Amino acid sequence: MTSTPRRIALRGHVVSCRLDPRLFSWDEAVIDIADGLVVVENGIIAAVGPYDSVRSSIDSATHVEHYPECLLAPGFVDSHVHYAQAPMVASHGTTLLDWLTKYTFPNEERFSDVSYARSVAKFFFDELLRNGTTSVLAFCTVFPQSTDAFFEEASRRNMRVIGGKVLMDRNAPSSLTDTVQSGYDDSKALIERWHGNGRLRYAITPRFAPTSSEGQLRSASSLWQEFPTCLVHSHVSENLEEIEWVRSLFPNRAGYLDVYDDAGLLGRGTVLAHGVHLTRDELDRIAATSTSLAHCPTSNTFLGSGLFSFNKVNAAREHIDVGLGTDIGAGTSFSLLTTMGEAYKVAALTASSMNAYELFYLATLGGARALGVSSFVGSLEVGKEADVVVLDPRSSPLLAYRSDRVTSTEEQLFALAMLGDDRSVAATYVAGERAYERRFDDD
Ligand code: GUN
Ligand code: ZN
Repeated sequence: MTSTPRRIALRGHVVSCRLDPRLFSWDEAVIDIADGLVVVENGIIAAVGPYDSVRSSIDSATHVEHYPECLLAPGFVDSHVHYAQAPMVASHGTTLLDWLTKYTFPNEERFSDVSYARSVAKFFFDELLRNGTTSVLAFCTVFPQSTDAFFEEASRRNMRVIGGKVLMDRNAPSSLTDTVQSGYDDSKALIERWHGNGRLRYAITPRFAPTSSEGQLRSASSLWQEFPTCLVHSHVSENLEEIEWVRSLFPNRAGYLDVYDDAGLLGRGTVLAHGVHLTRDELDRIAATSTSLAHCPTSNTFLGSGLFSFNKVNAAREHIDVGLGTDIGAGTSFSLLTTMGEAYKVAALTASSMNAYELFYLATLGGARALGVSSFVGSLEVGKEADVVVLDPRSSPLLAYRSDRVTSTEEQLFALAMLGDDRSVAATYVAGERAYERRFDDD
């Protein structure tokens, strides 16, 4: 017996990248349909195109959700975030290593309590959807039960997310450290439970070189060889003091990146956050190994870590996939729109300029490519999963005032990146189901 497919359609101004607008002309790279229709069957995009030509593919029984004033865009992809740091976001800065000791580690100690972890995971996913984010690559904490809480919540919402238990066997409070063996065993059990379970994937997650022994980094690499479809997720070259510390901890290595390289942790499937201070040679090595980077502008300015330079990244000998990360809780906003705006400003401070499509690409298809999930999400194309954000260009008086004066889709997206935030998300769809709808309370 065949069951009737569940079909819905979304109508609005469709904007999506199909290619990298840095490498292709806008005509080739961008799908821009002023009155578009996205038809979804059983959570998968079945048709996309101008309303007038695609409407004939749906019958009169198909429910059409019409957003006449809004943009329909791929759900945002947050390429680097710490779900467990939601409770400590906006803890007064100083610099990375002080901030970790003073706020981050005490905060993460609470995640041994699974009911606490579950309550934070619920808040975290609510906040993602309120901000139009449908996919993330996330750090959990050292406690495996905090990772279970993360995946349970994502699974309940049928979201395409990637996460992992933090590996950390030194230079952290003893309450927060694992060992080479327990880190391996716990990660393996989590992989067997969650990796490939529905839309979920697992990332092997050594926190950063200073908190893992060489033995632990090698053990992470062995685990990756056993489960090569997992990701590897860590931090690199975020802060100058951190880089000096890595040099003193690994005196036989050529530099920070070489610590990971030597352990066998670079390659397609590895995502390294920050990379603010990577050298020319290190960027060439990232490119040669097809390792991805996550650019985290609000975090890098908040902690005074430095300015990520696209000029340097683009000068690497081969292409590097880059996604955009909020890095909550060193980052200061869950909104990828706000993060796009801050990426623009950081580029402006590093003698580079980014247009709205380049920013939008980083937050959607670019992120999906960096995370290896672009065959499923990141753009509104036939065959992809229908994760969609509905963006309202009139969500604040100033944005509405500006939007009334834009003359192109690129200008509209740019105004959203500079002036938009969580209020600009009118609705979020996960696999074709509405998972969030903005409601303004009546006064
Ligand atoms: N490096 C190691 N751990 C962290 C963390 O939790 N946040 C940031 N921003 N950098 C790190
Ligand atoms: Zn981080």
